[in-house]
Amino acid sequence: ENILFTFCLSSYDCKTYIYKPRYDRRSFPEGFVFGAATASYQIEGAWAEDGKSENIWDHETHKQPSEITDQSTGDIADDSYHQYKRDVEIMRELGLDYYRFSISWTRIMPTSFSDKINEAGVTYYNNLINEMLKYNIEPMVTLYHWDLPQKLQELGGWTNPNIIDWYADYARVIFELYGDRVKKWITFNEPHIQCYYGYGSDYMAPKLNITGVAEYMCTKYLLLSHAKVYHMYNEKFRPTQRGIIGITLSAQWYEPESAEHIDAAEEANQFDWGIYAHPIYSDTGDYPAILKNKVAAKSAAQGFHSSRLNEFTPEEVDYVRGTADFFGLNHYTSYLVYRNESFNGKYAIPSYMDDLGALMYQPNEWKIGDSNRIMYAPWGFYNLLTKIRNSYNNPPIYITENGFATHGGLQDDDRITYYRSYLDAMLNAIDEGSDIRGYTAWSLMDNFEWTVGYTERFGLYEVDYSSTRRTRTPRKSAFVYKDILRTRRLDW
Ligand code: NOJ
Repeated sequence: ENILFTFCLSSYDCKTYIYKPRYDRRSFPEGFVFGAATASYQIEGAWAEDGKSENIWDHETHKQPSEITDQSTGDIADDSYHQYKRDVEIMRELGLDYYRFSISWTRIMPTSFSDKINEAGVTYYNNLINEMLKYNIEPMVTLYHWDLPQKLQELGGWTNPNIIDWYADYARVIFELYGDRVKKWITFNEPHIQCYYGYGSDYMAPKLNITGVAEYMCTKYLLLSHAKVYHMYNEKFRPTQRGIIGITLSAQWYEPESAEHIDAAEEANQFDWGIYAHPIYSDTGDYPAILKNKVAAKSAAQGFHSSRLNEFTPEEVDYVRGTADFFGLNHYTSYLVYRNESFNGKYAIPSYMDDLGALMYQPNEWKIGDSNRIMYAPWGFYNLLTKIRNSYNNPPIYITENGFATHGGLQDDDRITYYRSYLDAMLNAIDEGSDIRGYTAWSLMDNFEWTVGYTERFGLYEVDYSSTRRTRTPRKSAFVYKDILRTRRLDW
């Protein structure tokens, strides 16, 4: 039986999408693994404890007046710095194969540099990793999940080419400390969100908002930092540590509103995630041609001396190409895209990347439950996975995040619907040959959701922010996820 998603722009202008869930018990492939994810700033707290220094999110959340929706901070967050044993306990309750977490740069290197290593910080992650391994839960570690040392930001952050060496020093220290036990590494989490929203807009720290210039500087030096660390791991650490290393990209799906907007949707996909995926995973490397042409033409028309894109040299193209053992994919939702010129004031348009020249929206029909995000479009996940398979020679994929936001509460049936449908869409892609190795729920538990603080909840476990212990309680979705992991089946 097909599920039809229909939405109408007017009484005569409707579009229907067909999605085919298979109402049966579907098995996951042999060896497929399941996890859940978090990130350091969002859960750890202890922001100034035991020698940790300030990072850009400490800095951002301490601004007065606060620019966070509920005026909250990550100062305590889920208190995971002290509650890591309970965290591992809930991983066991769920039956996770692995746990994806990130390391806080300023907890390990308070000066930002490798001249001083903070022993207390080192011990924290040793304790966490060892506790997990005791119960056979594998660590998947993100080196950088947006919490740059504030000192490095003052030196320009990801727009300063020196960061390539600073980041490599940090990564080397981490491989030396934990690489004997950590075998899955992610260099960066969602560079597009860091660079575009942090440097090209004022939505995320560091809120530079130098649109059209800063995000491309960030993109270039971040990709070169990634490549340097990949090569370092490959040459110096892999021979003895024998792990794998990749990068996690945020990729939403951009669907043309109608056939005349196919090009616009293609460009939106390239601006959102092709900008990172193409240099690393395509045969040719480099930025996608459409993006290069567009930004170059627009820059010239604006009177810039050269393209604001800050293009790679041929040597840099070679240096970045092929630098990942897997494609880490964070996916949440889809958009309908149309050309700027077609705008007639009819629909809500989230503003997005000036250089793109396309607009997008999400029909209300994609909203389920009380979520303030419009997210439910599982067919988009399938389309995205298919495009990645076809564009980049079917790379091994780990879904490193997928999940659903609510306002809280233990009875989270909409989250269950979301997880089931998205897993089903993923299995459709696997059936057609996509090489997907693992799936990671975002998130293990509620946590600090950046600019919107604690107003959006993504947890399989609810966290009680009124209790000092930050009590973690399983939601209904936790029991469903546990059951899927136990049976290795998706039971409709
Ligand atoms: C992406 C980010 O990696 C994570 O930090 C964030 O909390 C989730 N998506 C949900 O928005």
